[in-house]
Amino acid sequence: MAIASENRRGMWSSRWLFILAAAGSAVGIGNIWKFPYIAGENGGGAFVLIYLVCVGVVGIPIMITEVMIGREGRSSPIIAMRQLTQRARCSPAWVMIGWMGVLAGFLILSYYAVIAGWAMNYIWLSASGAFESATAQNVGATFDNFLANPWQLIFWQTLFMVLTIWIVGKGVSRGLETAIRWFMPLLFILLVILLGYSLNSGGFEQAFNFLFEIDASAFTDPEIWLLAMGQSFFTLSLGMGAMMAYGAYVPQDAGIGSTVLTIAVLDTSVAVAAGLAIFPIVFANGLDAAQGPGLMFVTVPLAFGQLPLGIIFGTLFFILVTFAALTSAISLTEPALAYLVEEYNAKRKRVAISLGVMCWILGLGTVFSFNLLADFSVVGDLTIFDFVDYVSQNILLPLGGLLIAVFGVWLVPKEVLVRQLGISGGFKLFVWRLVGGVIAPLGVLAIFINILWPLIQGVFS
Ligand code: TRP
Repeated sequence: MAIASENRRGMWSSRWLFILAAAGSAVGIGNIWKFPYIAGENGGGAFVLIYLVCVGVVGIPIMITEVMIGREGRSSPIIAMRQLTQRARCSPAWVMIGWMGVLAGFLILSYYAVIAGWAMNYIWLSASGAFESATAQNVGATFDNFLANPWQLIFWQTLFMVLTIWIVGKGVSRGLETAIRWFMPLLFILLVILLGYSLNSGGFEQAFNFLFEIDASAFTDPEIWLLAMGQSFFTLSLGMGAMMAYGAYVPQDAGIGSTVLTIAVLDTSVAVAAGLAIFPIVFANGLDAAQGPGLMFVTVPLAFGQLPLGIIFGTLFFILVTFAALTSAISLTEPALAYLVEEYNAKRKRVAISLGVMCWILGLGTVFSFNLLADFSVVGDLTIFDFVDYVSQNILLPLGGLLIAVFGVWLVPKEVLVRQLGISGGFKLFVWRLVGGVIAPLGVLAIFINILWPLIQGVFS
């Protein structure tokens, strides 16, 4: 990548490369796999609207803050936070943000690798023609059989983990830069093709209404707010320092605000496009919109199975999903790796392997959640996968984001705001403090309180 290998603290060679790398982190299976299935499980329209509100009001300001802290610190999130807390003369406890991020990244990667492994298996299945003229039942059965077999899941999870660790262990090299340049636009084009197919599949209108018709009752459901907020953090790669780590390499002359806006728009467009591509197939084939994690793995093969040249396009689609997952997975490891390398002068490769092995072991919990331990729940009816996903996405990321916003807006020395964002006072400062320092953190807090309040009342009643 544009990070010069002879200089550990190099730079992206241009603002665009940062945008591509950050978009590579943001656009992942969170957009193509997770967003449609969570929207589907939560009734569509209202969820989508709340999610968009969260991206705009909470996500964008927090991403600006992360990139700002990263560029100011020019080092891994933990070390950047340590320097900044010292300069700002505030409690070293704020460095916890960095540590929480490392934990969140670790938890997320553990299951991310499993799901990305599914996509890899689907490259193979698509290429072998398994889905040619298949019916909805066939495709569904293929997926169920696959999930029922832990060995297969472990095989693909391992392969994905090895690939990730291999890439990050080498350092972010030239290869990735070229790849991002080619794959991100290709993914876009393929999504448009799938969208074109869906438009004509007969279910488009229904899908459109499903995604954009608002059911006002959802607005009062705190759980939907929490899920939508968690998804907005997840999809933008926020709250765990990934954007800080990447921000450390942003050239000083790039405008952070416009750059972040571009990334957020790109990311949101991919998610919405994925939804618009997938749901028409769901409705045209009488599938269940709320079927959960299998949604993409049933609808996409079904659509490509009926298209001329479907074998080629279907295979390509899953290759690109795998690639999108790889560029995201890399960013999940970056805060931890960069820290260990900087702090202990550890060998990058060795650290990457140890981290990878631990993550792989934890990931087995997710693998078994779909077969051997499907009936085992950690709390409520959450399987191990659901639990790890819930804790990381809905608790750790928003909490991290909340603390980042408070720190970045109110505690960071003022000269940082001037240097990084060009905000020195007046109206700009007012808007920045209002949105980044008040609305974003209060939004997160309000959602947390709404969820916790009934629990607290339960304890005391
Ligand atoms: N944003 C990625 C996706 O949508 C996942 C991801 C990568 C992520 N890095 C992250 C999520 C950091 C949270 C934090 O698939």
